[in-house]
Parts: sequence; structure tokens; C-alpha cells
Amino acid sequence: MELKGKVYYVGVNDRQKQLFENLWPLPDGVTYNSYLIDDDRIALIETVDICYFEVFIKKIRQVIGDRPIDYLIIDHMEPDHSGSLSLIKKYYPDITIVGNAKTFDMIDGFYGVEGKRLVIKEGDTLDLGYHRLQFALIPMVHWPETMVTFDMTEGILFSGDALGAFGALNGGVIDTQINTDAYWSEMERYYSNIVGKYGAPVQKALAKLKNLPITMACATHGPIWTKQLPRVLDLYDRLSRYEAEEGVVIAYGTMYGNTEMMAETIAEELSEQGIRNIVIDNVSHKHHSFIIRDVFKYKGLIIGCPTYNANIYPETEALLSELASRDIKHRYLGWFGSFSWAGAAVKKIGEYNEKLKFEQVGTPVEMKQAMNPAVEAECRTLAKAMADRLKADRSES
Ligand code: FEO
Repeated sequence: MELKGKVYYVGVNDRQKQLFENLWPLPDGVTYNSYLIDDDRIALIETVDICYFEVFIKKIRQVIGDRPIDYLIIDHMEPDHSGSLSLIKKYYPDITIVGNAKTFDMIDGFYGVEGKRLVIKEGDTLDLGYHRLQFALIPMVHWPETMVTFDMTEGILFSGDALGAFGALNGGVIDTQINTDAYWSEMERYYSNIVGKYGAPVQKALAKLKNLPITMACATHGPIWTKQLPRVLDLYDRLSRYEAEEGVVIAYGTMYGNTEMMAETIAEELSEQGIRNIVIDNVSHKHHSFIIRDVFKYKGLIIGCPTYNANIYPETEALLSELASRDIKHRYLGWFGSFSWAGAAVKKIGEYNEKLKFEQVGTPVEMKQAMNPAVEAECRTLAKAMADRLKADRSES
């Protein structure tokens, strides 16, 4: 599939894998995008997950037949993209692998592949004939070796994981050829779960790329962006600044439904206080990747769970750990919990917030055994405190 000026899409859809990184569900699959530039000297940008090599090599040969590939550019070494590197080297033994010093350190460790290498530095260029490529390093988006390749001739940015999204491609690959509606929330889930910890490096990368005359962005996952590129850049900018909308995620654990009643009461009061974006997530039912996405989306978070083995309910503790490891900023946190004979969860969620560093809102609510009028009133007071905190931001903006 030609994208523009003899630049071809040779990526693949993965509709088989259940979990990306063996962690994150893929309800609509994922792509491993790779690109082939057919010029005086032929360049392949990224490879694909090794499971898809056979499809991949067929796609390459549909474009260039038996002609050899001159360069393999590796913008990012994570094996969903570099996985076919050794096989490409076997098929094209004279190929020159292009990367930066950190790329080759990883190639040595992961694959032990030797042969021709071109070690590039920030700003270096590579002339293919008609196409002239320039390289820029964007470390920690999302590994330390990550870089991007910019086709100065056609204005195409090969952006690595940056600007990527979950979701396989259903026929067309360019945003103008497809209905992109389903990709936006999957872009948020991809960003928040995979890249979410690295907001500051993403901001640095966006600043670096801001002045490039980009007409097309080719990420390693998801659609190729042209007309809708400004919306993609805006979304990545907002997410990497940890900007969020007015709204509250209530993430609760429950064993028999008593703690769930606290969540329902809090949600009711939030609604009565005029908050319209309210998401209630049962931590045992909803995969945490979707809850993490919601926490990136909304400013308010209220967490609650029963005490379990004198600790936080395990699914809630797992979620707290996942949130803490992402260094999310500028969020408000309220919390509640329950116990049957000895309370611990409420105190321990409070201790967890020393890692999260979210702004505490309201007074935590602790319930013994089941809902009663006093607990209901405390839940409503907590919800009102969250609503008031959110509404205070309205007047500031
Ligand atoms: Fe899609 Fe960081 O690899």
C-alpha cells in the first residue's frame, strides 16, 4: 500500500494476541507498523513482531520483488518492532542497520546481530536518492534509545511509539480512508498504560518536533495521521502534561456489595452536585488498563474497598500500585473503605497517597459492616467536597 511518494505501508495486524506486553487487553487487536521507502537506496523503517514475519516478508516482496534492502532503520528496540531484525538480516545479509549508540547496545544484547551498521547522532541525515531522512533522538518515548526518522522530502514523520494507538486496521491505514472514532479512546488507553509514566520526555519530544513541516505521521501502532494530526498532537500534549477534564472516577472493590453501596451513594451525590462525567469502575471486573485510562482523563479519583487480610483489598492495591508507578500529576483523591471486625483499608489507602501525591479532598469514610444513615451522610459529604474542588477549578479557567 503506497502512502505517498513511493513510501509503502508494510505493517501487519495482530488480531491474535490477547494481551499486549502480556498485560494489556487488545479487544480490537493492534498493529505493528513498518514502512518501506523504494528509492535509489531502499530503506525499511522498523520491523514487526516475529510471529508475523511471514506476512511481513511477503508484503516487502510485493513492493520490491527480489531487490535487496539497503537500510533497516530501527527507531525503537522494543521487540514488538525489532522482533524480526535477525530474520531480516538473514534475508538481506548486506543490509546496513541504522540506529544510535543506545540502539546498538540493545541490538547486541537482544539479538547479537553483527554486520554493517550506521550509528547516527541527533540531526544526522541519510540520503536515499529522492528521499532525504533526518534523525532526532526522543529518549524515553518510550525506551532510552528511541528516536524518530523524518523524511524531509515528503514531510513524513516516522514517530515510533509516539502518536500510537491500540486497535488493528480494518482495510485502510490512513486517517482519511477510515472511520477513526474507535481509535481515540484506544489512543488514550495506549498512551496512559504504555507511555504514561514518561510525560516529561514526551513534552520534550513534542517541543523538538513542533517546528518540523509534518504532513503525515507514521507511528508504530495504529492509523497513519494526516488531516487529523493536529488532534493527535493536541491529545498527546494534554495527556503528557497530565491535563484532565472535569469528572470523577470512582474505583471500588467490593466482596458482597456493601462497599459498592458507598460508591453508588458517592456517585449520586456527585451527580446532584452537578458533576456530569462520573465513571464507576469495579476493580475486580474492569481491566485496570481501562481504569488507568479513565484516571488520565478525569481530574477526580475516589477509591474505596473493603479491608482484606488486614490490608487493602488486593485488586485495589494492585490498581494503586499501577497508578503510583505512572507519576500521574494534578489529581484530586478522596477515599473510603469498610471492614467487618478490624479496619485497615482506609488508613492504608491514605498511606498509599504518600506515593501517589494526589491532592486529598474531603474526609475519608470508614464503614463497619454495612451502610447506615451516618455513613451515607459521610459519603455524601466526601462527594460534595470533591464536587466543590472540581467546581473551584471552573472559576479559575
Ligand atoms: Fe510498541 Fe515501546 O513498543
